[in-house]
Amino acid sequence: MPQKIALLGLGSVGSQVVELIRQFPQDFTLESIAVNTTQLDTIIQRFGVNKVSVGLSSEVVRLQREFGIEVRLNSLSELATDKNIDIVVNALSGYAGLQATYDSLMAKKKVVIVNKEPLVAAGEILMGLPGKLISADSEMAAGRELIKDMNIADIVKLIITCSGGPFYDRKGVDLSQITPEEALAHPTWKMGPKITIDSATLINKAFEIIEAHHLFGLPYDKLGMAIHRHSVIHAILRTSEGDTPYISPPSMLIPLAQGLFSPRESLYTEENYRYPDDCTQLQKDPDTSRFPGYELCVQIGREGGLAPAYMVGANEVAVQAFLKRRIRLTDIPIVIERTLGQVQQQADPDLEAIKVAMSFADKSLAKNIIEHPIKYGLIGPF
Ligand SMILES: NC(=O)c1ccc[n+]([C@@H]2O[C@H](COP(=O)([O-])OP(=O)(O)OC[C@H]3O[C@@H](n4cnc5c(N)ncnc54)[C@H](OP(=O)(O)O)[C@@H]3O)[C@@H](O)[C@H]2O)c1
Repeated sequence: MPQKIALLGLGSVGSQVVELIRQFPQDFTLESIAVNTTQLDTIIQRFGVNKVSVGLSSEVVRLQREFGIEVRLNSLSELATDKNIDIVVNALSGYAGLQATYDSLMAKKKVVIVNKEPLVAAGEILMGLPGKLISADSEMAAGRELIKDMNIADIVKLIITCSGGPFYDRKGVDLSQITPEEALAHPTWKMGPKITIDSATLINKAFEIIEAHHLFGLPYDKLGMAIHRHSVIHAILRTSEGDTPYISPPSMLIPLAQGLFSPRESLYTEENYRYPDDCTQLQKDPDTSRFPGYELCVQIGREGGLAPAYMVGANEVAVQAFLKRRIRLTDIPIVIERTLGQVQQQADPDLEAIKVAMSFADKSLAKNIIEHPIKYGLIGPF
């Protein structure tokens, strides 16, 4: 019997999950899907989807009438906890997926997650829940394969690689003048806008360091980052015997299939990929001085408590403001820093406190900072 999937999000990653379901009909079937504004007609027809969640009330009525299926407004958690579902895939962007991730793990589901923000903001809580959480982020999938059942004491370091985004090598470029259009052109990965901007600021890599800390139980001192422009080395495991890289083509289909098939071996392969000649060249001591968001966000991760939740909320609104040309790329880490300067830390927050903190940073604190650029030392609009 194919395993029934609830797919949350149908952007760049969600579409690749659909591609895997299409390629492996014996193994997987698309039972339900959640989006915000995306049109779902074609996918409902093609895959015989039974339940959907949408963010537009007009779509609820229309889809129900045209397809006679169950359509609800913003019901991510209902889809994710449905008793018919075997696998929940969280391919949402931003922090909207936290509650559904929590609920599906509480319902003991297998959850394949690419959405970083829930783990960054609430990793300690999510890792303690009864379901099975499998990250299909390529660096995390590589780390999982490299570490397997190793003792943490035997690991000297797990090094996560980073493409560097579009501007790492362009040393003479004034990053405050970079437009959203330039920042959206990532050198190796085709991704949604939020993660593409996070890659340009290297904040995405800081989020992955925090993810790895939670997923693998590694202390921050055992986590590091290296620049690898080709994105074919995804992580490197350092032990007393030397460095072991995890090498695979730069395709999200590979880690996604590993997540879907787990604990079975993945049946998906990319046989025709040709590795570039110089594809193992690494820069092991990256210069992140032009990208202060990286160190800042790793430091906030180390602090733990409520700080990462405020950071996630502040980053979310700052990225949207940059995309609307209201602030500069270089203003994004400043918005995060100023936001964190205005909040009270709290150790061991519960899920509710984390959700409140993310939303408060997003909708009030950081938003206010963006609205008063001069007062808070931002360059501000283009
Ligand atoms: N793309 C990659 O290669 C890649 C690699 C590693 C990790 N990731 C992570 O994977 C996640 C998804 O990335 P992506 O590139 O696929 O992003 P994306 O293309 O922007 O897609 C995001 C999807 O989430 C949906 N969504 C967002 N908020 C929602 C809400 N409140 N309710 C329902 N649906 C909602 C969007 O729906 P609408 O379009 O209808 O608004 C869209 O379908 C991100 O967290 C990213 O960090 C991505």
